[in-house]
Amino acid sequence: DWTMESFIELQVAEIRAKVGNRRVLCALSGGVDSSVAAALVHRAIGDQLTCVFVDHGFMRKNEAEQVKKVFTEQFQLNLVFIDVRERFMKKLEGVSDPETKRKSIGNEFIRVFEVEAAKLGKVDFLVQGTLYPDIVESGTETAETIKSHHNVGGLPEDMQFELVEPLRMLFKDEVRELGLELGMSEEIVWRQPFPGPGLAIRILGEVTQEKLDILREADAIILEEIRRSGLYRELWQSFAVLPTIKSVGVMGDGRTYEYPIILRAVTSEDAMTADWARLPYDLLHDISSRIVNEVKGVNRVVYDITSKPPGTIEWE
Ligand code: XMP
Repeated sequence: DWTMESFIELQVAEIRAKVGNRRVLCALSGGVDSSVAAALVHRAIGDQLTCVFVDHGFMRKNEAEQVKKVFTEQFQLNLVFIDVRERFMKKLEGVSDPETKRKSIGNEFIRVFEVEAAKLGKVDFLVQGTLYPDIVESGTETAETIKSHHNVGGLPEDMQFELVEPLRMLFKDEVRELGLELGMSEEIVWRQPFPGPGLAIRILGEVTQEKLDILREADAIILEEIRRSGLYRELWQSFAVLPTIKSVGVMGDGRTYEYPIILRAVTSEDAMTADWARLPYDLLHDISSRIVNEVKGVNRVVYDITSKPPGTIEWE
């Protein structure tokens, strides 16, 4: 009968047979799927695998460091960690249209990835954390939506790689189980989905360092409070959005004129539809008061009570 252990054994054998003594590359996004895929391929072929992590600067608080730590210290795999935060900020200067933003980030990602891949010499295989539903559902999306949704972590079209997709028979819950079996922490395998362009598409309009810092801090508070409440796993996603508007408030004796933070929390099975989460009032209170008190530059918190459809989960 089917166990995760026997699945690992089978995949390890299959990957070894396919790859032989050649080299394999993996673009680590920091997300659950690419992380588990990397760990599994590493189990099979060890040092023949090189992972590249492009730190574009739009990850959640401490996330890039966490990826670095887990893969270098725990798994001890070959990780090329590239800090291109400044370069991405420059690229986004003056860009406020959501799709243009996505495309800029996607193209820049590919450019950085290509340069790093070229430095590694001859590489024949590329690891992809494709899941079973990705394969089944991609038929229902148009090429354009797939492209714009998945271009971060997407591939340079003229690079010739054979794909290694060890998760292609699995559903998300099985990927999590596999991750745990491979020794990954609950914190990593139970992470909520996160878009490739990251916090950049959660700042409505132009991305600036100031807005990015504010958003990241507010987001961290939301996640901390949601985790503390025990609701983290029940929610499909819970996060902060920063619109580029300011409103008047009052603090102490003074008038303030600062950004609001939009709290977005939804339940969903597959992201195709979603319902806004009925978070307890006390939790909403704690999130709001912590953000306003702890994050400089924010004087108001609002809760998005729109389901999908008609709203999307993200705001851009
Ligand atoms: P929407 O906002 O369309 O999002 O309801 C559905 C799911 O897709 C994620 N998402 C993205 N993922 N790159 C990604 O890798 C993107 O550009 C992107 N845009 C949205 C979103 O977080 C949600 O889980």
